[in-house]
Amino acid sequence: MSTPTLDKHSAALDAAENTASHAIKVTFRIRRFNPEVSEEASWQDFELDIDPKERVLDALHKIKWEQDGTLTFRRSCAHGICGSDAMRINGKNRLACKTLIKDINPQKPITVEAIKGLTVLKDLVVDMEPFFQAYRDVMPFLITKGNEPTRERLQTAEDRERFDDTTKCILCAACTSSCPVFWNDGQYFGPAAIVNAHRFIFDSRDEGGEQRLEILNDKDGVWRCRTTFNCTDACPRGIEVTKAIQEVKRALITRRF
Ligand code: SF4
Ligand code: FES
Repeated sequence: MSTPTLDKHSAALDAAENTASHAIKVTFRIRRFNPEVSEEASWQDFELDIDPKERVLDALHKIKWEQDGTLTFRRSCAHGICGSDAMRINGKNRLACKTLIKDINPQKPITVEAIKGLTVLKDLVVDMEPFFQAYRDVMPFLITKGNEPTRERLQTAEDRERFDDTTKCILCAACTSSCPVFWNDGQYFGPAAIVNAHRFIFDSRDEGGEQRLEILNDKDGVWRCRTTFNCTDACPRGIEVTKAIQEVKRALITRRF
C-alpha cells in the first residue's frame, strides 16, 4: 500500500504526463500588410514548434512574442465571446481563438489572412467601421411607444424562442465578410446587420419592427441576399443566418412578424 506522500508524487507525475507538450513543427503563412512600408501585401512564412492541441490564436501570440513583434491582429477575450479575432484561416472565416491547429491539417502550411470585403489597415486588422455602421443603421435596441411600464415587460417562452438564435451574435463579421454580395458591393447591409435587426423585429416587446423592415427594404437591404449560405457556414456561433434573412424577407412580404 502506498504512502500518502507517494500517492501525491505519482499524481503529480500523471498530471505532468497529461500536460506534457507534444509539439510539432508547423508553418504559418500569414498575409502581411503595412502601408508604412509598402502598398502591396505579401505572404510571410513563420515556422514554429507548437502543440497541435493549441489554437491558432496561441500560434499568433507565439509568433508575435518570439519572432516578430510587428505582427498585428485583434483579440480580446480569447474564448469566443468578444468576436474580435475573426480571420480567414486556410481560406475559411473562423475565430482564431476557437480554431485548434490539429483540426486544420498542420502537415501543410496554414494560411492566415484578414477577412475579405473590409479595408485592411495592417496585417490581420481591418476597418470595422462600415460593418458597425450597418449594425447601427438597423437600430439594434428595443423601441417602444407610450409610457414606461412600472414592471418588467413580460413575454412567453414561445415568443422568446422566436428570436433566440439571433441573440447569440457576437458581431465578429465572419458572416458579412464571407458574403460574395458584400465583397462586390460594400453598400449591402450584410448578414450580421440583418441578424441583429431580426433579433428585435421578432421580439414581441418591440414596436420598431415596421421601421426596421423599411430600412431593410432598401436596394442595399435584404433583397440583395442571394442565399449562398456562406454566412451560415461561417458563423462561429452556429446561428442559422440565412434562415434569419429569409424570415426577414418573409416578414417584409406578409407584414406579419
Ligand atoms: S451572425 Fe455569426 S458570423 Fe455573423 S457577426 Fe454574428 S456571430 Fe459573427
Ligand atoms: S478573442 Fe474574443 S472571440 Fe476570439
